[in-house]
Amino acid sequence: METESATATGVAYAICEMNDIPSQRARAFQLLRLDEEGVARPWSIFVVRWGRQVFAYENKCPHDGVNLDWERQQFFDPNGVRLMCGKHGALFELGTGFCVDGPCKGKSLKQIAVSVIDGDICVTGVTLAEDDEFDEEQESEDQESEGQG
Ligand code: FES
Repeated sequence: METESATATGVAYAICEMNDIPSQRARAFQLLRLDEEGVARPWSIFVVRWGRQVFAYENKCPHDGVNLDWERQQFFDPNGVRLMCGKHGALFELGTGFCVDGPCKGKSLKQIAVSVIDGDICVTGVTLAEDDEFDEEQESEDQESEGQG
């Protein structure tokens, strides 16, 4: 469910409400982004909320390219203060995505511009494909119905 609104810097795509993510939690989103040639490509990101602050990163470890949430929707280390790659345990600073420990120490997660507009968390600075059907709920419904066949 993406809605668009225009900002001074371009289009902002609302991906969820601020209240959908509790403070000190993160949530993954599967989006479709248009590349330079206008081709829609799956784009896996996650959004971290810390009080009134919101950060977003591509869901891709700089070391091996896998999703950070090896366990679905689990992005934090056991202490809940850093982001963690669930596969090999790389630790990343919450607000910068900088890797402070692990196999990709010194590298960073790719940060994504987000802003909160009227209580909605919005992705900015990119062009998303207009495909409201492609979201995680739809995906899991598809998987379930496949299993029922
Ligand atoms: S893929 Fe994340 S630390 Fe190995």
